Amino acid sequence: MTDPVIAAATSQITTCRATGHVPVVRTFFDDPTFTATHVVHDPATMACAIVDSVMDYDPASGRTDHAMAQEIVDYVTAEKLKVEWLLETHVHADHLSAAPWLQERLGGRLGIGESIIRVQDIFGKMFNAGTRFARDGSQFDRLFSDGTRFMLGSLPAIALHVPGHTPADMAYVIGDAAFIGDTLFMPDYGTARADFPGGDARTLYHSIRRLLSLPDETRVFLCHDYKAPGRDEYAWETTIGAERRDNVHVHDGVDEDAFVKMRTARDATLSLPNLIMPSVQVNMRGGHLPEPEDNGISYIKIPVSGS
Ligand SMILES: [Fe+2]
Repeated sequence: MTDPVIAAATSQITTCRATGHVPVVRTFFDDPTFTATHVVHDPATMACAIVDSVMDYDPASGRTDHAMAQEIVDYVTAEKLKVEWLLETHVHADHLSAAPWLQERLGGRLGIGESIIRVQDIFGKMFNAGTRFARDGSQFDRLFSDGTRFMLGSLPAIALHVPGHTPADMAYVIGDAAFIGDTLFMPDYGTARADFPGGDARTLYHSIRRLLSLPDETRVFLCHDYKAPGRDEYAWETTIGAERRDNVHVHDGVDEDAFVKMRTARDATLSLPNLIMPSVQVNMRGGHLPEPEDNGISYIKIPVSGS
């Protein structure tokens, strides 16, 4: 059974490694939300993409801040990079995106997976977002589907649809580097949760097996790290080979049913991320705050329920 998208990504990775035409990746780690933002660039043209940026947010006061995003602006400016893409792997539930703020300062096009429309529908209803909230992905400049090819400067890139954590998760393979969002984490930590609305452990397993069929030497960049027990440093880069061999949840040999059983049992023990309410309401709008009310102020809603 050949998967044409994986075959295309494999040939891209192999060619880029053989010719040495590979991207440079610099990662900025946001400790409060355990998020890794990757700035990936083509050394031949200095074109860059910013993958999964973070806007700081204090939930007690409702104040946003851009210290983390400013570090990215400073780096891009100092290195004389030209931002072509601001890529989101999915609608994050644990941090707010800084993509529009960065786009205003640095340019570039904002991209996410085309199934964002499904996620906007789910969360639009959940937060009773009303008719002013467009559920057609129009907050983004580009909606990627599985197998969409694009360029980063002179580097070839391909988007992969890897649902399971959410219905719209994407991975972006740029040159020989795969930015895989919330699918796999470091081998010693395992995999992403699959219990958010629209998430599904069985679907996640299939997405992960697709990723694991990329070449072993593929460089893999993660969206999060939480330090596995016994490890003191944050880590966000590994390889497909290391994940296949060592991933504690899904190394070679773990079958679908065993994974689903483990993932479902583990998800039942996890609490919701601290920033889920603001994150989802901002990120479903492409990183924009909700439309201000008639007093000019934006509000984040919290649906309240009793037992
Ligand atoms: Fe996530």
